[in-house]
Amino acid sequence: MNHSFQIKNAQDYQVAYRKSIEAPELFWATVAATFSWRKPWARVLRWDFRKPEIAWFEGAQLNITENCLDRHLQAQGDKPALIWEPNNPSDSARTFSYRQLAEAVNECAWMLRNNGVQKGDRVCIYMGMVPELAIALLACARIGAIHSVIFGGFSAQSIADRVHDAQAAFLITADGSYRGNKEIPLKEIVDEALGSCPFVKHVFVYRRTGTVPNMQPGRDLFWDEEVAKVHAAGSLFFPAEVMDAEDPLFILYTSGSTGKPKGVVHTCAGYMVWTTYTFVNVFQIRPDDVHFCTADIGWITGHSYIVYGTLCAGATSLMFEGVPTWPDAGRFWDIIARHGASIFYTSPTAIRSLMAHGLSFLKGKDFSSLRVLGSVGEPINEEAWHWLDEQVGHKKCPIVDTWWQTETGGIMISNLAGVTPSRPGFATLPLPGVKPVLMNEKGQPILGNNLSGNLCLAAPWPGMIRSTWGDPQRCREAYFTAYPGYYFSGDGSLRNEKGFYRITGRVDDVLNVSGHRLGTAEIENAIGQCPGVVESAVVGFPHDLKGQGIYAFVISSSEQDASLYEAILNTVTDVIGAIARPDKIQFVRGLPKTRSGKIMRRILRKIAEGDMEHIGDITTLLEPAVVDEIKAGRA
Ligand code: WT7
Repeated sequence: MNHSFQIKNAQDYQVAYRKSIEAPELFWATVAATFSWRKPWARVLRWDFRKPEIAWFEGAQLNITENCLDRHLQAQGDKPALIWEPNNPSDSARTFSYRQLAEAVNECAWMLRNNGVQKGDRVCIYMGMVPELAIALLACARIGAIHSVIFGGFSAQSIADRVHDAQAAFLITADGSYRGNKEIPLKEIVDEALGSCPFVKHVFVYRRTGTVPNMQPGRDLFWDEEVAKVHAAGSLFFPAEVMDAEDPLFILYTSGSTGKPKGVVHTCAGYMVWTTYTFVNVFQIRPDDVHFCTADIGWITGHSYIVYGTLCAGATSLMFEGVPTWPDAGRFWDIIARHGASIFYTSPTAIRSLMAHGLSFLKGKDFSSLRVLGSVGEPINEEAWHWLDEQVGHKKCPIVDTWWQTETGGIMISNLAGVTPSRPGFATLPLPGVKPVLMNEKGQPILGNNLSGNLCLAAPWPGMIRSTWGDPQRCREAYFTAYPGYYFSGDGSLRNEKGFYRITGRVDDVLNVSGHRLGTAEIENAIGQCPGVVESAVVGFPHDLKGQGIYAFVISSSEQDASLYEAILNTVTDVIGAIARPDKIQFVRGLPKTRSGKIMRRILRKIAEGDMEHIGDITTLLEPAVVDEIKAGRA
């Protein structure tokens, strides 16, 4: 692919940035013109953040899969689109050329269509990291169905909540999945979830582990058997559904400050343009790149930079089924060497965990194919940044620190590899189209530099959230009311003398645990479902590996004991999933509350951090004495 919008040097960046702010419509029309459309747009942008209402490329028609697949076939049909590294290193890797991937997506689209999936239907996808997961997303997009991927580590109850919220009549899963030496019985978990979802018409089951799942006659179908029927019927090409620019492409649930995850909605055209534009520019894509993104497709990083952005740009995407520490902590390095990865995009948590395993796992590994390194999901500490730079990049590979969110669809603030300067701990500068504003406590923009505030965005960008599924009011309240006229990210940030942004973390009641977002209210809800628990309060605390750990203060109805401790952990695993298990539980007699009954989390955070000196004023509490008790009993 020839990417005419690729920024080539620092001056180019300045020019592009200025144009994008001064004349956004012209700027994005020029970028969008490089994609393949069924019908051009009538209007580039219409927006009003007070509603909010955001429409990009209105009037245009397209199908994102024609951009990810069909348009590449002639010039690079034989180029690898997807390379898959299996969990077990002694199993064979699988490579799909663009032509082969297109065929697989067309087949899968027929499988869905032949079983009743139509444009606009919601399809939940609960799978491990197999190529068929990427294929399932693309097949939904090809027929215009709205996919909702549920991370393979979530519990049955989380699946049921999401299937209900989206009223999804279809689900795609697998018999099981492999992660390291664990086998996860996905279909069993799905069966448990669907007990409360009688409206589900079909469950498609991809066979990965070969365990024989329980199949409900009439409802459950094996992927391979359905695809065999497609072959028997002859015609494999599936004509892509013609979608309006603002038709929903997918829903992805993410945690907020209330107890219930919200379904972030992204639409076809803007998301496509944004993910592709940011992918090409941040990583400075070249034709022979092999892009290894270690995220799971269950999160936005996988959607945007394993599947959509990467394939729209015509690059080669390397996906990995397993975990970084199995069979040993050198696995990522083996994969990089085996497939000649040129870009390695990972999380600070993964880096810290591999650092902790020691340098012996890096000895003798071949890193020579690497050109660019990237970090995403949480602030990267300087130690991890330098380790990545020295031990993996051998000081030859620029590191991009990419700040963005599920809601932003793609990267918002980041250096451009080798083109704009980097600085450890700083995401640095906004991408073209991104207008960051820091707000003070009074809700006024902070104009000077070397100051911190709440990070907002003053203008729409093509990949931004359009709505929250089934509840548009929630979108407005969560992102557009704290600072009227702005999108509020929920993060705090510093801006230094050069205008570089340093993201300092969430300022709301959302935790970032190993790069995964979890609401404190959501965890408290889960803990509250454990018999014997009266009330709980959850806060984050600094954790060497996870970035943030989960600290739960719990009031129990009886003498607390080890069995309640275990029961709480099990309940949280059942309600949300293992990622939400508290690292520490402290049983308390009372919680610090104001006279109006509000829990003073600020105090609990200080105690959880172990910062007993800066607890601050507690005289306004209903029962100040409880603070000393909690301090004394710190877990
Ligand atoms: C939250 C979004 C973006 C895809 C993965 C996470 C934090 C993300 C960075 C970064 C500091 C970061 C923020 C943000 N975050 N990237 N480079 N530096 N913090 O997506 O689950 O929607 O979480 O992750 O706190 O709000 P997500």
